[in-house]
Amino acid sequence: MAELTLPLPAARPAATPEPVIELTGVRKTYRTGTVEFEALRGVDLRIDAGEYVAVMGPSGSGKSTLMNVLGCLDVATQGTYRLAGEDVGELDETDLADIRNRRIGFVFQQFHLLPSLSAWRNVELPLVYGHVPAAERRARAVAAMERVGLGDRLDNRPGELSGGQQQRVAVARALVGEPALLLADEPTGNLDSVSTRDVLALFDELHAQGRTIVLITHEEDVARRAQRVVRVFDGLVRTDGDPR
Ligand SMILES: Nc1ncnc2c1ncn2[C@@H]1O[C@H](COP(=O)(O)OP(=O)(O)OP(=O)(O)O)[C@@H](O)[C@H]1O
Ligand SMILES: [Mg+2]
Repeated sequence: MAELTLPLPAARPAATPEPVIELTGVRKTYRTGTVEFEALRGVDLRIDAGEYVAVMGPSGSGKSTLMNVLGCLDVATQGTYRLAGEDVGELDETDLADIRNRRIGFVFQQFHLLPSLSAWRNVELPLVYGHVPAAERRARAVAAMERVGLGDRLDNRPGELSGGQQQRVAVARALVGEPALLLADEPTGNLDSVSTRDVLALFDELHAQGRTIVLITHEEDVARRAQRVVRVFDGLVRTDGDPR
């Protein structure tokens, strides 16, 4: 009997999550005069789309150095960093600025809002740098303000808002460009417990909506809100539950 060759089903990619962040063998050496210090000593780290990751570690362990690399604010001395599939090491300063603007939303401990601009004007700023037309900027800034629960505070300046509200404006600004990645460096470090709760609830919501979030924190109860904790020790990274 003639053998039947059944047609194979068309290759379908498995539903594996896409990495947003892929660090391989990343080293960062600071030079001060003739003194060299290796702040990152060979970091491998993968963070997939939709993950919510907390970064913890002692003072001086390399967390901010790692965040600066992840945020394309600084470049690795050695190793590779792929952000949303793009090899960041091959980009010049203009391209890095562009990738920061398009792919990453930043939230800092100090809110870094411009005091002379109203809340929605602060939120539209990344779109100004991205050359988005004015009417679209306004619409997207208003939508982002509504999303963080501040649709009724559009025209207030930062000084007229509480700390928690200012941080929510900063989150709206981080989100307005629809970045692949939200990077937060101690976002609740300057907030009271009520505002901390509001901002963390907002992060939970953003995570539930599929955002990728990386948050540096010193507080265990803040880190517990994340799905996974990455611990930095002495320039190296260890993930909780990872036996290495
Ligand atoms: N620009 C720099 N030049 C020289 N050394 C630096 C520089 N920035 C950081 N370092 C050193 O690299 C190491 C890691 O610093 P980093 O700021 O990443 O630590 P960290 O984990 O963020 O600490 P903290 O919790 O105190 O913020 C430290 O020993 C620090 O002194
Ligand atoms: Mg730091």
